[in-house]
Amino acid sequence: MRKSLEQQHGREPARSAFLLRALGRDALPLFLGLVLALLTGWAVFPQVLYSREEQPMAFNHVLHIGQAGLDCGACHYLRSDGSFAGRPSLENCAECHSAPLGKDPAEQRLISEYIDPGREIPWFAYAGQPEHVFFSHAAHSLERCNACHEFTKIRLCARCHADMSAGAELPAYVKDRLTGYSKDAMAMSACERCHALPGHAPTTASNDCAVCHK
Ligand code: HEC
Ligand code: HEC
Ligand code: HEC
Ligand code: HEC
Ligand code: HEC
Ligand code: HEC
Repeated sequence: MRKSLEQQHGREPARSAFLLRALGRDALPLFLGLVLALLTGWAVFPQVLYSREEQPMAFNHVLHIGQAGLDCGACHYLRSDGSFAGRPSLENCAECHSAPLGKDPAEQRLISEYIDPGREIPWFAYAGQPEHVFFSHAAHSLERCNACHEFTKIRLCARCHADMSAGAELPAYVKDRLTGYSKDAMAMSACERCHALPGHAPTTASNDCAVCHK
């Protein structure tokens, strides 16, 4: 009994080395195939799911906030009825660009394709929600939030958006091919997480379906 155990142990290394070699020879192509499949999926799948589109016109936030000295509210503001004029209108650009300020080809295109013919720029909204969602910037304004917080305007916007104030170029708009909506739109769970914070119980923030779906 004892002897046979020793014998078994003695044979163990030789057997497992053989197994490893046998397996290794078959496993290598299998392993490489798996890696190849993963890499292909990684590269191809996002392109099948998402399409990327450039904004119709270049816009540089850093330059316009810095050199041109504009406040966010020059282009993104609440109207007196509380609705949000988020999408910059042509007026916001024509104010300064009705005649060229520099030699940039993008500025020349802005004038010849949009300002001169009086055609609004069809901007994509990265944050754009489906029709069935109700969202109001008035309920999430600096005044309302700063009843309890001390957000700066840029910090508040960046709670829900990418920090655009730091970008010299507008990012590409990425559309989910299945839903037709922006990939960067906020998910329902993200709205609900903030509404459910204990500190927000005294506010109008609520997770009743009818608050966000009218
Ligand atoms: C001269 C006009 C102008 C000013 C001033 C300006 N922006 Fe913008 N902003 C734009 C344009 C043009 C876009 C691209 C179109 C769009 O996304 O609606 C944009 C897009 C954005 C977006 C993305 C919205 C979305 O989901 O599509 C955010 C967020 C934003 N700006 C924040 C800011 C902040 C914060 C400031 C101040 C620090 C600011 N902007 C100042 C013109 C302006
Ligand atoms: C307060 C004035 C002002 C307003 C309003 C304004 N711009 Fe400008 N813009 C400037 C200045 C100043 C420059 C720099 C000009 C130069 O030296 O080339 C500039 C440059 C540009 C350029 C070329 C440089 C680059 O980096 O792309 C584009 C394109 C442009 N603006 C688009 C817009 C659009 C679109 C709007 C409206 C959403 C707008 N601007 C509103 C002042 C303004
Ligand atoms: C609590 C989250 C939240 C905050 C804070 C917030 N936004 Fe938004 N924003 C959204 C959502 C959600 C949308 C999409 C609304 C829709 O499609 O009905 C949006 C849309 C926009 C758009 C696109 C509008 C359009 O129709 O083209 C702009 C521009 C914008 N926001 C700028 C800002 C700026 C500037 C600030 C800061 C002053 C800000 N937002 C603060 C959530 C927020
Ligand atoms: C009635 C006071 C009150 C108002 C109004 C209020 N908050 Fe808050 N908020 C709080 C308190 C208290 C906390 C911390 C306790 C907690 O996390 O529940 C908090 C936490 C937060 C947090 C998580 C902690 C952090 O700072 O990262 C965020 C984000 C936030 N609030 C955003 C907002 C936004 C955006 C608004 C405006 C739409 C707003 N709050 C309005 C009281 C308020
Ligand atoms: C960072 C925190 C935060 C996020 C993210 C957020 N909210 Fe809110 N929301 C609040 C707070 C706080 C209030 C209450 C403000 C007050 O009463 O002063 C509020 C109020 C509202 C109201 C107004 C309710 C009423 O009856 O007046 C609506 C509608 C709403 N949110 C929808 C949304 C939707 C839709 C989203 C996601 C796309 C969203 N919110 C994301 C914090 C947030
Ligand atoms: C605080 C805001 C908010 C509340 C409260 C809310 N939703 Fe939503 N809901 C959204 C937003 C934003 C979207 C779109 C983004 C997404 O699909 O995640 C959405 C999407 C949906 C969709 C479509 C999902 C899909 O995949 O197309 C359904 C269905 C839905 N909500 C049902 C409900 C029901 C039922 C309730 C109540 C239990 C509810 N919602 C409460 C914000 C809200």
